[in-house]
Amino acid sequence: GRADTFYAAVGGEDTFRRLVARFYEGVAQDPVLRPLYPEQDLGPAEERLRGFLIQYWGGPSTYSQLRGHPRLRMRHVPFAIGAAERDAWLTHMHDALDSLDLAPAHAQVLWDYLSSAAHSLQNRSD
Ligand code: HEM
Repeated sequence: GRADTFYAAVGGEDTFRRLVARFYEGVAQDPVLRPLYPEQDLGPAEERLRGFLIQYWGGPSTYSQLRGHPRLRMRHVPFAIGAAERDAWLTHMHDALDSLDLAPAHAQVLWDYLSSAAHSLQNRSD
């Protein structure tokens, strides 16, 4: 892969693997979020989110080879995402990000993106 990507700078696949694994450990325990996930096995959802983030930050584009254009807004329409769901998602993502011990500037870039993406995917007002 290219050496000059944010993906490479933060540690490549291993970093995103750890981020998303930790995030889904939180989702698995969460009474607000867990019921939204249609599949019993969270493994495939974990793989999709990991693949998307890797591609977004400049790593391999395996996600789109498997799934096509991300169209995240459209793909989240079936799930009722109000402020509570958005905040629960962000709480687990923040814990996961903290667990990585990235350079603060890198963690901040990731957090700004994840936070604004989560706000943009809210599709219910409550
Ligand atoms: C898929 C919930 C935010 C990226 C999903 C799924 C659910 C969900 C229930 C279906 C699981 C699956 O089959 O893959 C939520 C909730 C969010 C949220 C409650 C709170 C705001 C985000 C954000 C991102 C994201 C911020 C990206 C930065 C994805 C991706 C998929 C997905 C890539 C798989 C799309 C596909 O290829 O089908 N999400 N999500 N989600 N989500 Fe989210």
